Amino acid sequence: AMVGKGNHRHYMLKEIFEQPAVIGETLRSMWNPASGIIELPPVDIDLAAVSRVTIVACGTSFLSGMVAKYWFERVARIPVDIDIASEFRYRDSPLEKGGLSIFISQSGETIDTLAALRHAKAAGQKTIAIVNVPESTMAREADGVLPTLAGPEIGVASTKAFTCQLVLLACLVIATARARGAIDGAAEARLSNAIAEVPSRAAEVLNGDEGIQALAAQVAEARDVLYIGRNTGYPIALEGALKLKEISYIHAEGYAAGELKHGPIALIDETVPVIVIAPSDDLFEKTFSNMQEVMARGGKVIFLSDEKGCAHIGDAAWGTIALPAVHPFVAPILYAIPVQLLAYHVAVLKGTDVDQPRNLAKSVTVE
Ligand code: G6P
Repeated sequence: AMVGKGNHRHYMLKEIFEQPAVIGETLRSMWNPASGIIELPPVDIDLAAVSRVTIVACGTSFLSGMVAKYWFERVARIPVDIDIASEFRYRDSPLEKGGLSIFISQSGETIDTLAALRHAKAAGQKTIAIVNVPESTMAREADGVLPTLAGPEIGVASTKAFTCQLVLLACLVIATARARGAIDGAAEARLSNAIAEVPSRAAEVLNGDEGIQALAAQVAEARDVLYIGRNTGYPIALEGALKLKEISYIHAEGYAAGELKHGPIALIDETVPVIVIAPSDDLFEKTFSNMQEVMARGGKVIFLSDEKGCAHIGDAAWGTIALPAVHPFVAPILYAIPVQLLAYHVAVLKGTDVDQPRNLAKSVTVE
C-alpha cells in the first residue's frame, strides 16, 4: 500500500506525530473502555504459570524490551533475562522449563531475532512475538502473537512502533501481574488508568515540539552527546542516543545516571550536551544529583522532567523540556517522544537523509 507523508516533510516526522492515534489503536485492542480492564487478545499461554521471562530483540525493539524488564520485575514480580538477539542466539544459555520467551520486532523479519525465536522454541520455551507486521515470519512461528497497531513504518529509524511496543508490553505486564496475583485491584486500576491517559498525554508532548526544535540548534553543534536516566529512564536514554546517532551521525551514548561516575564523566566539558531523563519518581533526587555533577564540570544539561521537576532546577539548565506529569509507570512512553523529536530536528539541521540514513536498513534480514 502507498503511504504518503501527508503535510510532513519526512516520514519520520509524520510517524512521530501519529503516535497519539496509533498508541490509542494499540491500546484499544487490549483495553476495554467500559470496564477499564486490560484484556489481552487470546494467546495460548498460561501467564499464571510463567516462572521466568526471557526477552530478545534488536535495535530500538530491544530497548522497549529493556523497559519491559523493569516493569515485569517491579509490577509482576517475575525475573527477566534480556539480551540482544545476535548474542542470545549463540550464547546457549540454559532456558528454564516453564519459561516464556518474548521476541519483539517491528518487521517480524529481523534475522537474528527470528533465529533466536527458533532456538528458544527448540529448547521448549513458550514463545510470544510482538510484531508490527501481522503476516510476518515471527508471527507465523511463535506460539502467540501480540500485534502492535502502529501501521506501516517507513522511516528507517523506528519511532511509533517503539511506543506502541511499550504500550502493549505495559498491558502484558499488568495482565501477567493479575494472573500471578502480584497486584491488587486498586493498584491495577491505577496503572490501567495511567495507560489509558497516554494517548492524550502524548498529544500534549507533541504540542511542545517548537521548544524542542529551538534546542536542536545547539545540540547540532556538538561532537558528542550523552543521555542519562535511571530505571525505565535508562532505556529511554539509550533510545535517545540511538536515535541521534542513527539519523544525525553525531556520536551519542546512553548511560545509567548512576554509572556516569564510572567512566563517561571524564568526557564532560562545556562542549558536551547531556540530556537528562528525569520524571518525578522515587529516583528523581538521585538523577538530579548526577545532573549536578555534570553541571559542576561545565556540561550543558538539557533537562527533561514534569512541571515539578523543572521547578526544582529553575533556570540552571542549558535547556529544559517540560512534559505533563504522569504516573511513573508510563513515563518512559512519553519521554520517548521528545528524544525522537530532538534527534529529528538535529538531523534536519545537519541536512542528513532523515528517512534513509546512510548504512542502515529498515529491516535487517541478513546476518
Ligand atoms: C534496524 C532498524 C531499527 C530497528 C531494528 C530492529 O536496525 O533500522 O530501527 O529497531 O532494525 O528491527 P525490528 O524490525 O526487528 O524491530
